Amino acid sequence: MLKIAVLVSGGGTNLQAIIDAIDNHKLTGVTIELVVSNKDDAYALTRANDHGITGICIRPKDYADKDAYGRYLAEFLKDHEIDLVVLAGFLVVLPECFIDEFENRIINIHPSLIPSFCGDGFYGLKVHEAALARGVKVTGATVHYVDKGCDTGPIIMQKAVYVEPGDTPEILQRRVMEQAEWVILPQAIQNIANRQIR
Ligand code: GAR
Repeated sequence: MLKIAVLVSGGGTNLQAIIDAIDNHKLTGVTIELVVSNKDDAYALTRANDHGITGICIRPKDYADKDAYGRYLAEFLKDHEIDLVVLAGFLVVLPECFIDEFENRIINIHPSLIPSFCGDGFYGLKVHEAALARGVKVTGATVHYVDKGCDTGPIIMQKAVYVEPGDTPEILQRRVMEQAEWVILPQAIQNIANRQIR
């Protein structure tokens, strides 16, 4: 059984996609051991609670600095024997000490086709605003391993989504989630659980 911790900051629709995939037996051999948020009002924590999953808020501002936060978080996840850390809309950049502890065992979902619209400052709705401003006709989502850079780790899976005339950032965000993110995040976790990815 692959024990995962899902790290979140907001609504948690990607967390929900993982929960649903497990409930529907589309994602097997995987258990969500923990949901960790950096914000105590994240709706994702309610989703965890509703499904009997331990949800906890660990805030960077409660620690002396980013490293102290990263060390605490890493120890906490190690205490729970977490095999894989899934960043699902987690908007804190994790410090190097955390990455070292979970090297090659952290994945992230990003709402664009990396290397487009990624890196520092590209998160959430901002990604879709930038895609529309550039006038791209195809966008999508990417699941990748997390390394010490920002959205620079090895790509695991991508799915393309068409931009439609009249799209707003909100409409495009929703389509990218429905058609790409909620599909490829559970698939990538399944592939890791099946040891199809090294
Ligand atoms: C998702 O679109 C995810 O790809 C994005 O935040 C949203 C979280 O939604 N992540 C990033 O932008 C990371 N750079 P959710 O809380 O409903 O899953």
